[in-house]
Amino acid sequence: MSVPIGIHDLSFATTEFVLPHAALAEYNGTDIGKYHVGIGQESMSVPAADEDIVTMGAAAAAPVIARHGTSRIRTVVFATESSIDQAKSAGVYVHSLLGLQPACRVVELKQACYGATAALQFAIGLVRRDLAQQVLVIASDVSKYELDSPGEATQGAAAVAMLVGADPALVRIEEPSGLFTADVMDFWRPNYREAALVDGQESINAYLQAVEGTWKDYAEQDGYPLEEFAAFVYHQPFTKMAYKAHRHLLDFCGTATDEDAIARALGQTTAYNTVIGNSYTASVYLGLAALLDQADDLTGRPVGLLSYGSGSVAEFFAGTVVAGYRGHLRTAANHEAIARRTPVDYVGYRALHERSFPADGGDHRAPAQTTGPFRLAGISGHKRLYEAR
Ligand code: CAA
Repeated sequence: MSVPIGIHDLSFATTEFVLPHAALAEYNGTDIGKYHVGIGQESMSVPAADEDIVTMGAAAAAPVIARHGTSRIRTVVFATESSIDQAKSAGVYVHSLLGLQPACRVVELKQACYGATAALQFAIGLVRRDLAQQVLVIASDVSKYELDSPGEATQGAAAVAMLVGADPALVRIEEPSGLFTADVMDFWRPNYREAALVDGQESINAYLQAVEGTWKDYAEQDGYPLEEFAAFVYHQPFTKMAYKAHRHLLDFCGTATDEDAIARALGQTTAYNTVIGNSYTASVYLGLAALLDQADDLTGRPVGLLSYGSGSVAEFFAGTVVAGYRGHLRTAANHEAIARRTPVDYVGYRALHERSFPADGGDHRAPAQTTGPFRLAGISGHKRLYEAR
């Protein structure tokens, strides 16, 4: 039997500020039930003026490095769809902020919200070649839609860092995977735009088609039967999407839809996403963290993970929870990352949303707002300047 490979450590970070959906509802006159019940969101993480995917990614990864050191990390894969540069990987800034060794390859990956799962699978391939190596996978995103658009209520921001290695302490990633790709325009962001474009209903349909497609392939590849899974962790653009997806999967499989069973299968995966909002590439792994932090002992149980990235690419795969995993969780730190955020009012949120650095190559400092471990100090000569606080 081959050596198990998977997630050895998982840590996440989010932003300095949080906007409660109650403030958004009060501003735009929406019944709060639409947000709290209809889409299943209570608040959204809002980045400070001196936070971005790099500062969040470094903040997520720093505790992983503190626990495991840097000597076995020869690859960093940074997955994002809110990239800050068309050439340089955001991971290179993180590599520098964390003091990783120069003998390291660093690269950025993109396929909408699916990117981190591609990174995880590529990492497993690298570890398989040399079981002594570990790969640092970072998924970091700021989800940004136009103000006053339907997507606005689903915004959020967070980063997840995962250390991938042999004999993992948390979750063993299993073969096979169910795969699905379809060329659809459900959600996209042309290079000249800061906010994503989305066809809301089309995106929901495309996601459901991908659930069906990945499961069909997974079953054909002889994956576990549906009833083997202890829980299902879905990509959560808004938490009710996970429920739509799971009902669709049960329908597709011809399994009776029992609402209590659905709540048992998904209920513990949504706690972080409901207060953070969509974190794109990080979302499904925030769901995994929420499940591991809250569930009764999952030792030896397979969990189904469904990663969906608009455009679209999706993957369904199983992760089996490893004996002793509870001693390696970061539950208190995860709760603290959420609790430490400062509420921002609607006016403050709107100002942050509209803020961007001038593109004139001048010397532009960012106001000091974040109390996190890393900050974007400014931009000078078109270069982003980061510092540890
Ligand atoms: N009380 C309770 N529920 C209410 C309510 C109330 N007062 N008012 C409305 N609702 C319910 C509606 O019935 C609806 O429920 P169902 O979906 O079960 O029918 C739900 O709240 C949402 O209402 P609408 O459909 O009217 O909402 P909307 O049209 O304003 O927008 C959205 C919803 C399309 C998801 C929009 O938020 C959006 O465009 N989001 C961004 C795109 C997105 O997240 N797509 C998901 C799939 S794509 C993906 O996963 C990749 C990614 O990360 C982007």
